[in-house]
Amino acid sequence: MLSDSTGVPGTGFQVRSSKGEYMFHMGWFVGHGFSVQSWKGTWSGAGAREWMMPDLYVDMARSLERACFDYMIFEDGLMIPDAFGGSMDTYLKYNMECPRHDPTALIGILGQATSRIGLIPTMSTSFYPPFMAARMLVTLDHLTRGRVGGNLVTSSSHRAAQNFGHAEHFEHDLRYRMADEWMDLVGKLWGSWEPGAVVFDEETGTFADGSKVHTIDFEGEFFRCRGPLNAVPGPQGRPVICQAGGSPAGREFAARNADTVICVPLGVAAMKAYREDMSARLIAAGRKPADCKVLYLIRPVLAETDAEAQEKRRRLRAAQREQAAIETQLAVMSYFSGLDFSTFDLDKPLPDLSGQVNGHQSSMTRYAKDSEDGKTLRELVSTHETTTSLELVGTPDTVAALMGEAMEEVGGDGFLISNDVDRHSIAQIADGLAPALKRRGLIRESYTHEHFRDNLLEF
Ligand SMILES: Cc1cc2nc3c(=O)[nH]c(=O)nc-3n(C[C@H](O)[C@H](O)[C@H](O)COP(=O)(O)O)c2cc1C
Repeated sequence: MLSDSTGVPGTGFQVRSSKGEYMFHMGWFVGHGFSVQSWKGTWSGAGAREWMMPDLYVDMARSLERACFDYMIFEDGLMIPDAFGGSMDTYLKYNMECPRHDPTALIGILGQATSRIGLIPTMSTSFYPPFMAARMLVTLDHLTRGRVGGNLVTSSSHRAAQNFGHAEHFEHDLRYRMADEWMDLVGKLWGSWEPGAVVFDEETGTFADGSKVHTIDFEGEFFRCRGPLNAVPGPQGRPVICQAGGSPAGREFAARNADTVICVPLGVAAMKAYREDMSARLIAAGRKPADCKVLYLIRPVLAETDAEAQEKRRRLRAAQREQAAIETQLAVMSYFSGLDFSTFDLDKPLPDLSGQVNGHQSSMTRYAKDSEDGKTLRELVSTHETTTSLELVGTPDTVAALMGEAMEEVGGDGFLISNDVDRHSIAQIADGLAPALKRRGLIRESYTHEHFRDNLLEF
């Protein structure tokens, strides 16, 4: 129930709910992708046995649809890392960045089990042939009845490149130049069937009008493709495009192509700066700020009382200081940067790594920022939060209030839950936090449209 629309610096457009609050969007970032989620925790259930089956995700998608989330997004990767200590052992031992089953296979099943929520698998523009990606996304757009998106990443590690026959990965900014051309080509394939090309005329026995289906004859610097696509346009025409890279090159790519950006700037000021930077880039690219929704990762710690939530937070922080947690954090940093963090002195500050990272530059910049006060690497890894922009601890109502305040200040556009996935944590968000957000008029109470993009761009 929307009462009015108001111009706001930042997004250029936001909507107040009938309760007078600026409304925002919600999603869930499944940070382990289609993989083992929870398997030895209190609430893991049969996590070790059922992770490769769709049931948990079906339950999750239905729960998040009940919560009126905009979308659910699956992280993905294309290799088993060995950056830490020059070995895959740590990654295999703790199932970090592996295994990774193909999330596109899940989307059709989730589409069948739901009717409104947007569903986004991750795809690598560096390695997914554009023709195959265009066809896969259109096929999924049909299977989900207009609710698919693609999280377009450029992949970051040499190991992934080696799985596709390259000696090493392409240089960082070159990857984004390739991604731009990839997107251009995919867009042309999606446009290779004019509206009205499919006629299904029973009288003349005509399926499609040949004058409305065209080759694209694409000749780029990196890709060539004749076209047309051999799949008919999906309900959305162009599936929703999501983008996650925060470097200047990544943001430029998003400004040209993305309907939604997901990011993890640290704190409200950085979130606001990110939104404003994206708005400026969108305008420079000839688009409106409201054309692209920026969602920030958060990892709320929820409990029945604020005190209980604080105690839970204290326990989580203490666990971060245990040896296994330090090792996994170092392995994550190695994966992000491609540098071997097992060789770094834990009791010295993080060295200056500028110019050495060909992987996730924005994630490494975030670590560097967090260590500006001179903390040691050990202190950094035992306190750093990779997947939250804000510290949110309390009852669902306390956290909902904090989220509302942050969004009011940032100027849009929403949050992406990055909590671990098990049925207990899903219920905390879908049946605890979401109702609290709805009571405050901060998120939608029902979906207005059938298609993903229409709901995403509604406010
Ligand atoms: C929230 C978030 C989610 C991401 N998800 C993926 C992913 O699923 N797969 C992947 O290969 N990279 C993922 N990335 C990495 C980015 O897409 C990008 O490749 C990386 O950050 C390097 O680009 P940058 O230097 O522009 O930040 C993610 C990054 C962020 C911030």
